[in-house]
Amino acid sequence: MSERLIRTLVAEFQLCGVRKSEVCAVLSDAGTRDDLRTASMEALLRLDAHAFQVVLPEVVGEPTGSGRQSEQVGQGQLHRIAPALTALQQSGFIIDLTTSFGGLIHDPARDALLEKGARILHIAEHPDILCRMLPDEDLRRRVEEAVGKLRAASIMRVTSEAGTDLTINLRGAVVNGLYGFTDEPGRLDVFPAGFVAAYPARDSVNGKLVLNTADIDLNFMRLIDGPVELTIENDYITRIEGDSTHAHLMRDYMASWGEKDAYATSHVGWGLNKKARWTGFAFFSPHETEGMEARAFAGNFLFSSGANRFAGRYSHCHFDLPMRNCSVYLDDVPVVVDGNLVE
Ligand SMILES: [Fe+2]
Repeated sequence: MSERLIRTLVAEFQLCGVRKSEVCAVLSDAGTRDDLRTASMEALLRLDAHAFQVVLPEVVGEPTGSGRQSEQVGQGQLHRIAPALTALQQSGFIIDLTTSFGGLIHDPARDALLEKGARILHIAEHPDILCRMLPDEDLRRRVEEAVGKLRAASIMRVTSEAGTDLTINLRGAVVNGLYGFTDEPGRLDVFPAGFVAAYPARDSVNGKLVLNTADIDLNFMRLIDGPVELTIENDYITRIEGDSTHAHLMRDYMASWGEKDAYATSHVGWGLNKKARWTGFAFFSPHETEGMEARAFAGNFLFSSGANRFAGRYSHCHFDLPMRNCSVYLDDVPVVVDGNLVE
Protein backbone atom coordinates (compact mmCIF):
# COMPACT_ATOMS: atom_id res chain seq x y z
CA MET A 1 0.00 0.00 0.00
CA SER A 2 1.38 3.42 -0.92
CA GLU A 3 2.25 5.45 2.18
CA ARG A 4 2.18 8.58 0.03
CA LEU A 5 -1.40 7.91 -1.04
CA ILE A 6 -2.51 7.16 2.53
CA ARG A 7 -0.95 10.40 3.79
CA THR A 8 -2.59 12.35 0.99
CA LEU A 9 -5.97 10.86 1.89
CA VAL A 10 -5.46 11.52 5.62
CA ALA A 11 -4.84 15.20 4.78
CA GLU A 12 -7.79 15.24 2.38
CA PHE A 13 -10.19 13.71 4.91
CA GLN A 14 -8.98 16.18 7.56
CA LEU A 15 -9.97 18.97 5.16
CA CYS A 16 -13.37 17.24 5.03
CA GLY A 17 -13.62 17.54 8.81
CA VAL A 18 -13.50 13.83 9.63
CA ARG A 19 -13.59 13.52 13.42
CA LYS A 20 -12.60 10.85 15.91
CA SER A 21 -15.42 8.28 16.22
CA GLU A 22 -17.34 9.74 13.28
CA VAL A 23 -19.14 7.07 11.25
CA CYS A 24 -17.61 7.12 7.77
CA ALA A 25 -18.36 4.90 4.78
CA VAL A 26 -16.21 3.87 1.85
CA LEU A 27 -18.53 3.12 -1.07
CA SER A 28 -16.99 1.30 -4.02
CA ASP A 29 -17.85 -1.18 -6.74
CA ALA A 30 -16.13 -4.05 -8.48
CA GLY A 31 -14.35 -1.63 -10.82
CA THR A 32 -12.74 0.46 -8.04
CA ARG A 33 -8.94 0.37 -7.77
CA ASP A 34 -7.93 -1.81 -4.83
CA ASP A 35 -5.19 0.61 -3.75
CA LEU A 36 -7.66 3.47 -3.54
CA ARG A 37 -10.16 1.42 -1.55
CA THR A 38 -7.62 0.09 0.96
CA ALA A 39 -5.82 3.42 1.32
CA SER A 40 -9.15 5.17 1.98
CA MET A 41 -9.98 2.71 4.77
CA GLU A 42 -6.51 3.01 6.24
CA ALA A 43 -6.67 6.83 6.19
CA LEU A 44 -10.02 6.79 8.01
CA LEU A 45 -8.68 4.40 10.63
CA ARG A 46 -5.63 6.63 11.21
CA LEU A 47 -8.09 9.44 11.93
CA ASP A 48 -9.84 7.17 14.48
CA ALA A 49 -13.07 7.27 12.51
CA HIS A 50 -15.57 4.42 12.74
CA ALA A 51 -15.15 3.25 9.16
CA PHE A 52 -17.01 0.61 7.18
CA GLN A 53 -17.34 -0.39 3.54
CA VAL A 54 -20.16 -0.93 1.08
CA VAL A 55 -19.03 -2.71 -2.07
CA LEU A 56 -21.45 -2.86 -4.99
CA PRO A 57 -21.23 -5.24 -7.95
CA GLU A 58 -19.86 -4.23 -11.31
CA VAL A 59 -21.69 -1.34 -12.93
CA VAL A 60 -24.40 -2.40 -15.32
CA GLY A 61 -26.16 0.13 -17.43
CA GLU A 62 -26.81 1.41 -20.86
CA PRO A 63 -23.59 1.27 -22.84
CA THR A 64 -22.44 4.48 -24.49
CA GLY A 65 -20.10 2.79 -26.90
CA SER A 66 -17.19 4.16 -24.88
CA GLY A 67 -17.05 1.34 -22.37
CA ARG A 68 -18.22 3.79 -19.74
CA GLN A 69 -21.71 4.22 -18.45
CA SER A 70 -23.55 7.26 -19.63
CA GLU A 71 -22.80 10.24 -17.41
CA GLN A 72 -26.16 11.88 -17.33
CA VAL A 73 -28.64 9.08 -16.87
CA GLY A 74 -27.58 7.79 -13.47
CA GLN A 75 -28.79 4.20 -13.52
CA GLY A 76 -27.54 3.66 -9.98
CA GLN A 77 -27.72 0.51 -7.93
CA LEU A 78 -28.09 1.90 -4.43
CA HIS A 79 -31.75 2.85 -4.58
CA ARG A 80 -32.54 -0.82 -5.28
CA ILE A 81 -30.53 -2.07 -2.26
CA ALA A 82 -32.27 -0.54 0.74
CA PRO A 83 -29.96 -1.88 3.50
CA ALA A 84 -26.89 -0.42 1.76
CA LEU A 85 -28.63 2.91 1.25
CA THR A 86 -29.75 2.97 4.89
CA ALA A 87 -26.23 2.24 6.13
CA LEU A 88 -24.87 5.10 4.05
CA GLN A 89 -27.63 7.44 5.20
CA GLN A 90 -26.40 6.94 8.75
CA SER A 91 -22.86 8.01 7.88
CA GLY A 92 -21.53 11.52 8.33
CA PHE A 93 -18.96 11.21 5.58
CA ILE A 94 -19.17 9.03 2.47
CA ILE A 95 -16.17 8.44 0.25
CA ASP A 96 -17.61 7.54 -3.14
CA LEU A 97 -15.19 5.44 -5.18
CA THR A 98 -17.80 4.03 -7.57
CA THR A 99 -16.81 3.87 -11.20
CA SER A 100 -19.87 4.80 -13.23
CA PHE A 101 -18.87 8.15 -14.73
CA GLY A 102 -19.19 10.76 -12.00
CA GLY A 103 -20.17 8.17 -9.38
CA LEU A 104 -22.92 9.40 -7.06
CA ILE A 105 -23.03 12.79 -8.80
CA HIS A 106 -25.55 11.45 -11.30
CA ASP A 107 -27.00 8.70 -9.13
CA PRO A 108 -30.70 8.72 -8.16
CA ALA A 109 -29.61 7.97 -4.55
CA ARG A 110 -27.56 11.15 -4.29
CA ASP A 111 -30.26 13.40 -2.88
CA ALA A 112 -31.46 10.72 -0.43
CA LEU A 113 -27.94 10.73 1.04
CA LEU A 114 -27.36 14.47 1.02
CA GLU A 115 -30.76 15.12 2.63
CA LYS A 116 -29.59 13.19 5.69
CA GLY A 117 -26.66 15.56 6.02
CA ALA A 118 -23.87 13.38 4.65
CA ARG A 119 -20.77 14.94 3.18
CA ILE A 120 -19.99 13.06 -0.02
CA LEU A 121 -16.57 13.05 -1.64
CA HIS A 122 -16.23 11.42 -5.05
CA ILE A 123 -12.76 10.15 -5.99
CA ALA A 124 -12.00 8.41 -9.26
CA GLU A 125 -8.54 9.54 -10.29
CA HIS A 126 -5.17 7.79 -10.50
CA PRO A 127 -3.21 7.99 -7.19
CA ASP A 128 -0.45 10.03 -8.88
CA ILE A 129 -3.00 12.73 -9.68
CA LEU A 130 -4.39 12.67 -6.12
CA CYS A 131 -0.94 12.95 -4.54
CA ARG A 132 -0.15 16.00 -6.70
CA MET A 133 -3.44 17.83 -6.24
CA LEU A 134 -4.32 18.06 -2.56
CA PRO A 135 -6.62 21.10 -2.28
CA ASP A 136 -6.45 23.82 0.36
CA GLU A 137 -8.48 26.64 1.88
CA ASP A 138 -7.06 29.12 -0.62
CA LEU A 139 -8.54 27.14 -3.53
CA ARG A 140 -11.87 27.04 -1.73
CA ARG A 141 -11.79 30.79 -1.18
CA ARG A 142 -10.98 31.48 -4.84
CA VAL A 143 -13.70 29.09 -6.08
CA GLU A 144 -16.30 30.62 -3.74
CA GLU A 145 -15.29 34.09 -4.90
CA ALA A 146 -15.67 33.02 -8.53
CA VAL A 147 -19.10 31.52 -7.76
CA GLY A 148 -20.10 34.88 -6.29
CA LYS A 149 -18.95 36.76 -9.42
CA LEU A 150 -20.74 34.31 -11.70
CA ARG A 151 -23.99 34.58 -9.71
CA ALA A 152 -23.82 38.36 -9.77
CA ALA A 153 -23.15 38.64 -13.51
CA SER A 154 -25.71 39.05 -16.29
CA ILE A 155 -23.66 38.21 -19.38
CA MET A 156 -20.66 35.94 -19.95
CA ARG A 157 -18.71 36.46 -23.15
CA VAL A 158 -15.99 34.10 -24.33
CA THR A 159 -13.54 34.86 -27.13
CA SER A 160 -10.35 33.35 -28.56
CA GLU A 161 -7.88 33.95 -31.37
CA ALA A 162 -9.00 30.64 -32.83
CA GLY A 163 -12.40 32.23 -33.52
CA THR A 164 -14.54 31.57 -30.46
CA ASP A 165 -17.08 34.31 -29.80
CA LEU A 166 -19.82 33.08 -27.52
CA THR A 167 -22.36 35.05 -25.51
CA ILE A 168 -24.17 33.48 -22.56
CA ASN A 169 -27.06 35.19 -20.82
CA LEU A 170 -26.64 34.27 -17.14
CA ARG A 171 -30.07 35.42 -15.95
CA GLY A 172 -31.72 32.44 -14.29
CA ALA A 173 -28.56 30.30 -14.51
CA VAL A 174 -27.82 27.82 -11.73
CA VAL A 175 -24.22 28.28 -10.57
CA ASN A 176 -22.02 26.03 -8.48
CA GLY A 177 -18.36 25.45 -7.75
CA LEU A 178 -16.25 22.48 -6.73
CA TYR A 179 -12.99 22.90 -4.82
CA GLY A 180 -11.97 19.36 -3.99
CA PHE A 181 -13.19 18.76 -0.42
CA THR A 182 -16.37 19.11 1.61
CA ASP A 183 -16.79 19.89 5.29
CA GLU A 184 -20.41 21.10 5.09
CA PRO A 185 -23.23 18.64 5.85
CA GLY A 186 -25.32 17.85 2.76
CA ARG A 187 -22.66 18.92 0.28
CA LEU A 188 -20.92 16.85 -2.42
CA ASP A 189 -17.50 17.58 -3.87
CA VAL A 190 -14.92 15.79 -5.99
CA PHE A 191 -11.20 15.26 -5.32
CA PRO A 192 -9.50 16.87 -7.14
CA ALA A 193 -11.51 19.82 -8.46
CA GLY A 194 -11.28 23.61 -8.62
CA PHE A 195 -13.71 25.16 -11.11
CA VAL A 196 -17.02 26.97 -11.40
CA ALA A 197 -19.94 26.07 -13.64
CA ALA A 198 -23.14 27.81 -14.70
CA TYR A 199 -26.11 25.92 -16.10
CA PRO A 200 -27.80 28.58 -18.22
CA ALA A 201 -31.58 28.93 -18.42
CA ARG A 202 -33.30 28.28 -21.76
CA ASP A 203 -32.48 30.40 -24.82
CA SER A 204 -29.32 31.86 -23.31
CA VAL A 205 -26.36 30.70 -25.40
CA ASN A 206 -25.43 32.00 -28.86
CA GLY A 207 -22.34 32.34 -31.00
CA LYS A 208 -19.34 30.35 -32.15
CA LEU A 209 -17.16 27.97 -30.21
CA VAL A 210 -13.95 26.92 -31.94
CA LEU A 211 -12.22 23.93 -30.37
CA ASN A 212 -8.55 24.08 -31.21
CA THR A 213 -5.62 21.68 -31.43
CA ALA A 214 -4.68 20.29 -27.96
CA ASP A 215 -7.95 21.31 -26.31
CA ILE A 216 -9.35 18.33 -24.42
CA ASP A 217 -12.46 16.26 -25.04
CA LEU A 218 -13.60 14.38 -21.93
CA ASN A 219 -16.17 12.35 -23.83
CA PHE A 220 -13.65 10.65 -26.10
CA MET A 221 -10.97 11.23 -23.44
CA ARG A 222 -8.41 12.58 -25.88
CA LEU A 223 -6.65 15.71 -26.99
CA ILE A 224 -8.33 17.37 -29.95
CA ASP A 225 -6.31 17.00 -33.15
CA GLY A 226 -7.49 20.06 -35.07
CA PRO A 227 -10.12 22.79 -35.21
CA VAL A 228 -13.80 22.01 -34.75
CA GLU A 229 -16.12 24.96 -35.31
CA LEU A 230 -19.44 24.79 -33.48
CA THR A 231 -22.23 27.20 -34.27
CA ILE A 232 -24.59 27.62 -31.32
CA GLU A 233 -28.04 29.15 -31.71
CA ASN A 234 -30.43 29.47 -28.75
CA ASP A 235 -28.42 26.89 -26.77
CA TYR A 236 -28.23 24.30 -29.56
CA ILE A 237 -25.25 23.34 -31.70
CA THR A 238 -26.65 23.79 -35.18
CA ARG A 239 -23.45 23.21 -37.19
CA ILE A 240 -20.26 21.22 -36.54
CA GLU A 241 -17.66 22.21 -39.11
CA GLY A 242 -14.07 21.20 -39.75
CA ASP A 243 -12.12 18.38 -41.34
CA SER A 244 -10.06 17.29 -38.33
CA THR A 245 -10.56 13.74 -37.10
CA HIS A 246 -12.21 15.26 -34.08
CA ALA A 247 -14.77 17.15 -36.13
CA HIS A 248 -15.73 13.87 -37.81
CA LEU A 249 -15.94 12.08 -34.44
CA MET A 250 -18.17 14.73 -32.89
CA ARG A 251 -20.52 14.93 -35.89
CA ASP A 252 -20.97 11.16 -36.04
CA TYR A 253 -21.20 10.54 -32.30
CA MET A 254 -23.67 13.33 -31.54
CA ALA A 255 -25.90 12.23 -34.43
CA SER A 256 -25.73 8.59 -33.34
CA TRP A 257 -27.90 9.24 -30.27
CA GLY A 258 -30.80 10.57 -32.29
CA GLU A 259 -31.54 13.00 -29.44
CA LYS A 260 -32.25 16.69 -30.02
CA ASP A 261 -30.82 17.61 -26.62
CA ALA A 262 -27.51 15.93 -27.43
CA TYR A 263 -26.77 19.23 -29.22
CA ALA A 264 -27.82 21.50 -26.36
CA THR A 265 -25.64 23.49 -23.96
CA SER A 266 -25.15 21.86 -20.58
CA HIS A 267 -22.78 24.04 -18.53
CA VAL A 268 -20.12 26.74 -18.96
CA GLY A 269 -17.40 27.94 -16.61
CA TRP A 270 -13.69 28.17 -15.97
CA GLY A 271 -10.91 26.42 -14.04
CA LEU A 272 -9.08 27.80 -11.01
CA ASN A 273 -6.71 25.08 -9.81
CA LYS A 274 -3.08 26.10 -10.20
CA LYS A 275 -1.85 22.63 -9.32
CA ALA A 276 -3.53 21.19 -12.42
CA ARG A 277 -1.31 20.54 -15.44
CA TRP A 278 -2.58 20.43 -18.98
CA THR A 279 -0.08 17.71 -19.81
CA GLY A 280 -1.22 15.62 -16.82
CA PHE A 281 -4.12 14.32 -18.90
CA ALA A 282 -1.79 12.85 -21.54
CA PHE A 283 -0.24 10.36 -19.12
CA PHE A 284 -3.33 8.39 -18.22
CA SER A 285 -5.63 6.04 -20.06
CA PRO A 286 -9.40 6.59 -19.90
CA HIS A 287 -10.01 3.94 -17.23
CA GLU A 288 -7.49 5.64 -14.90
CA THR A 289 -9.02 9.12 -14.84
CA GLU A 290 -12.26 11.05 -15.16
CA GLY A 291 -10.36 14.12 -16.36
CA MET A 292 -10.87 16.29 -13.28
CA GLU A 293 -7.42 17.82 -13.70
CA ALA A 294 -8.35 19.12 -17.16
CA ARG A 295 -11.69 20.48 -15.87
CA ALA A 296 -9.93 22.30 -13.04
CA PHE A 297 -6.93 23.62 -15.02
CA ALA A 298 -6.44 27.27 -14.05
CA GLY A 299 -7.58 29.60 -16.82
CA ASN A 300 -9.36 27.04 -18.97
CA PHE A 301 -12.83 27.69 -20.38
CA LEU A 302 -15.04 24.64 -19.89
CA PHE A 303 -17.92 24.24 -22.31
CA SER A 304 -20.24 21.31 -21.92
CA SER A 305 -22.94 19.95 -24.21
CA GLY A 306 -25.94 17.73 -23.48
CA ALA A 307 -28.23 17.52 -20.45
CA ASN A 308 -29.13 20.57 -18.38
CA ARG A 309 -31.91 19.62 -15.99
CA PHE A 310 -32.30 23.24 -14.92
CA ALA A 311 -33.38 24.03 -18.48
CA GLY A 312 -35.49 20.84 -18.69
CA ARG A 313 -33.18 19.04 -21.12
CA TYR A 314 -32.01 15.43 -20.92
CA SER A 315 -29.61 13.47 -23.09
CA HIS A 316 -27.31 10.48 -22.92
CA CYS A 317 -24.65 12.38 -24.87
CA HIS A 318 -22.45 14.68 -22.79
CA PHE A 319 -19.23 16.39 -23.82
CA ASP A 320 -17.04 18.26 -21.32
CA LEU A 321 -14.59 20.32 -23.38
CA PRO A 322 -11.84 22.13 -21.44
CA MET A 323 -10.33 24.74 -23.77
CA ARG A 324 -7.13 26.73 -23.54
CA ASN A 325 -6.25 30.26 -24.64
CA CYS A 326 -9.76 31.69 -24.29
CA SER A 327 -10.75 34.99 -22.69
CA VAL A 328 -13.79 35.03 -20.40
CA TYR A 329 -15.63 38.23 -19.50
CA LEU A 330 -18.41 38.76 -16.95
CA ASP A 331 -20.34 41.92 -17.87
CA ASP A 332 -17.24 43.05 -19.84
CA VAL A 333 -14.89 42.49 -16.87
CA PRO A 334 -12.26 39.85 -17.70
CA VAL A 335 -11.81 36.89 -15.36
CA VAL A 336 -9.60 34.96 -17.80
CA VAL A 337 -7.45 36.55 -20.52
CA ASP A 338 -5.89 34.39 -23.22
CA GLY A 339 -6.07 31.37 -20.94
CA ASN A 340 -4.64 33.11 -17.86
CA LEU A 341 -6.59 33.82 -14.69
CA VAL A 342 -7.08 37.49 -13.84
CA GLU A 343 -6.33 37.98 -10.15
FE1 LIG B 1 -20.18 18.00 -17.50
